[in-house]
Amino acid sequence: MARMLNARATWAVLRAGDLGARLRTLRDGQATLRLHIGAAALATGVLASLREGALATEELAARTGASARRPFEALLRVFAAAGLISDRGGRWRLARRGRALLDDEWVRAAHEAFTSYQVDLYREIGPLLAGGPLRRDVDRHGGLIARLSTGFEPFVLGDLTRRISTVGPRRVLDAGCGAGVNLATMLSAAPGATGVGVDTDPDAVALAEGTLRAWRLTDRARVVHADVRDLVRERADALAEPFDVVLLANVVYYLPPTERVDLLRDLAGLLAPGGVVLVVTTVAEATLGSRHLDLLFRAQEGQMQLPDDGELRTLLRDAGLGSVEVTRLLPGAPLAMASGSAPAAEAAATRR
Ligand SMILES: C[S@@+](CC[C@H](N)C(=O)[O-])C[C@H]1O[C@@H](n2cnc3c(N)ncnc32)[C@H](O)[C@@H]1O
Repeated sequence: MARMLNARATWAVLRAGDLGARLRTLRDGQATLRLHIGAAALATGVLASLREGALATEELAARTGASARRPFEALLRVFAAAGLISDRGGRWRLARRGRALLDDEWVRAAHEAFTSYQVDLYREIGPLLAGGPLRRDVDRHGGLIARLSTGFEPFVLGDLTRRISTVGPRRVLDAGCGAGVNLATMLSAAPGATGVGVDTDPDAVALAEGTLRAWRLTDRARVVHADVRDLVRERADALAEPFDVVLLANVVYYLPPTERVDLLRDLAGLLAPGGVVLVVTTVAEATLGSRHLDLLFRAQEGQMQLPDDGELRTLLRDAGLGSVEVTRLLPGAPLAMASGSAPAAEAAATRR
């Protein structure tokens, strides 16, 4: 009988609609819920309050300022069902998933980003397509974007370290330095070098300064709060001495395509003979992640968009750089590093 019922239930499900589409929707819906639940567990302060030890519901409500008792209790049960916290003997404690969420800075940033501007884009796409105002996520969420882009680090830092060890720079510039980890990595790979980080976003500048402090590099580097385009044009003091390496990591897509060569030419003009410009970027290609980012950028004010491999090559050549190369940092993923060099001293002298 039970078997008959199961067969009937399965038949009913099969007839109800497209089974594959329903299962995919269920899976995706659950993933969406999990992200929002995790983000709420962070935003309400429940996870942080449990960091030091178990708390009863009363204590947890007092710590997090939750006065609406009924929904708060239900929310805690949701967090428990999602495996973020657990209830032992009437006291709530952090579960393994909750601790992993709390302790990993990138995971926290990703929960914030993928429940806010990354998906607001689609929720608000109608008015935008109808000619409404373009988005300003880059201005509004600069700190969060910088935290999120640290996710690229494991794929970038090894290559960056190898490049820096080969060049052996005395001065490095990190244009659009974000949280400053690339700058700190370059300086660690070149122990005698000094460096400058530049970023338009005050939160990113604060993060980069924190990174330099944490890596004990404040005596070898400074961070300037400015648009790198203005700084180069104004020939600011911070850029007066030539650089052996100029890095533009995850920044080029913020610039309108028509301004990219000019900036790269200006940056190339800051190089010492034989110096190198490195451009790290996600590139445009027909994968979901790449296409999503490209749309996110094209929906912003300021004509942002992802470059493709060919454009990167052309940009560096048109900026007057030689030995141009584009390599993928992660097989199968749209993450590239392009490089181009200034002529060596003798060649530069001949040119003059
Ligand atoms: C996606 S984050 C990348 C940060 C860092 N380079 C990395 O790879 O982790 C881009 C950073 O570039 C900064 N930025 C964008 N356009 C800029 C400009 N014209 N001048 C200076 N900073 C800029 C943003 O504020 C942001 O912090």
